[in-house]
Amino acid sequence: MKITVFGSGYVGLVTGACLADVGNQVVCMDIDAEKIAKLQQGGIPIFEPGLDAMVRENQAADRLRFTTDAQEAVEHGVFQFIAVGTPPDEDGSADLRYVLAVAESIAEHMTDYRVVIDKSTVPVGTADKVRAKIGEVLAKRGEEIEFDVVSNPEFLKEGAALNDFMRPDRIIIGVDNPRTAELLRALYAPFNRSHERIITMDVRSAELTKYAANAMLATKISFMNELANLAEYLGADIEQVRQGIGSDSRIGYSFIYPGCGYGGSCFPKDVKALERTAREQGYHAELLNAVENVNNRQKNRLFEKIADYYQNKLEGKVFALWGLAFKPDTDDMREAPSRVVIESLCGAGAAVQAYDPEALAEARRIYGGNPRLKLCASPHEALENADALVIVTEWKEFRSPDFDALSRSLRDKVIFDGRNMYEPRFVRRSGLDYHAIGRP
Ligand code: UDX
Repeated sequence: MKITVFGSGYVGLVTGACLADVGNQVVCMDIDAEKIAKLQQGGIPIFEPGLDAMVRENQAADRLRFTTDAQEAVEHGVFQFIAVGTPPDEDGSADLRYVLAVAESIAEHMTDYRVVIDKSTVPVGTADKVRAKIGEVLAKRGEEIEFDVVSNPEFLKEGAALNDFMRPDRIIIGVDNPRTAELLRALYAPFNRSHERIITMDVRSAELTKYAANAMLATKISFMNELANLAEYLGADIEQVRQGIGSDSRIGYSFIYPGCGYGGSCFPKDVKALERTAREQGYHAELLNAVENVNNRQKNRLFEKIADYYQNKLEGKVFALWGLAFKPDTDDMREAPSRVVIESLCGAGAAVQAYDPEALAEARRIYGGNPRLKLCASPHEALENADALVIVTEWKEFRSPDFDALSRSLRDKVIFDGRNMYEPRFVRRSGLDYHAIGRP
């Protein structure tokens, strides 16, 4: 099948590469000429395990091409995916400028039937706007060309995106007629093996499903963070509580890890956008509001613990910081809790020596000029002459440090762990003070 993907960012690239990998002819289009030039030479602008190899293999096999030429892109695919960004505007609503610009350019160049597929996370009602935009441009051109608009949200986790695309839990297809549903079923057939994963529904419900899934997951996390804070007051251990409730199959073990707050490009933005959508409808979404507030507060928890420990005398202290990415297996620092910790510590006059296996370049881009932040090439380098260790991201390589060595190296012999990585007994055995989230 011939497929075009607009937007060669995270979602667009993964979508394009995976669709090419099962044998389709895919053209990825982006207006960023630098990015496209890099991709044409086999360079991948983001870190995602397995993506570089998949892109290169499919390029070599002539199934995947990159272009900045909108006309070529629209001519190529019967399926036109929209996978451009929807950044929050000033009030937190999703900014549809890029989505509608793609719709316009599809309408300007199309000469026969096209299926336009919204892959980007967009507010309920966007498919209608895309349809209206295409209709408007076609009318101006004086053309009557048939097209359909589909909502097909993505559920890709950074760090596991290829697997999520290739073996999805579900494929949500929002359509308004059976013919388009059949086309999409055929397109997704290679990913719908072993058991039925396609769920077809109306367009608005599909659009809402995406927000509902992310808001539900964010709610689970904020709920656990609230309980973790409460556990601290009560002298209970949230890690034991977590296992106690996770064993209930209605609750489950996943996504109930307390910590220093959720980050990334999706949860913070989507919770906010859904809350704004509700407000536009005249509905005050109490719970969504609380989920967001609890998370913002939680991102400050680690710093609060540190400030309490040092009785607000942080001037001149040196902190080793392990983990910059918003979660392991990515180099993404968007809305990362590490940023709140770094900015608060530096703001209070302390110095930070940070290490991350993948996000150092991104940190350099964000904080390049900050004289209080040193980016280190290894976890050990970060510890040199440090007073305390702060852990913000639960990378695998931090799971089993030599606590005796840490105890010798940290001047104040204290660890602040925002991800509850260790068994407190083991840490304290080495003479270290250990402060985690929701643990006595
Ligand atoms: C998320 C959704 O999982 C995905 O389905 C959607 O399409 C995009 O948004 P992603 O942003 O890659 O994916 O991150 P995810 O793995 O879901 O983690 C989000 C954040 O929640 C991270 O900061 C993580 O540290 C935090 N988290 C996750 C917790 O604090 N506790 C948990 O139990 C789980």
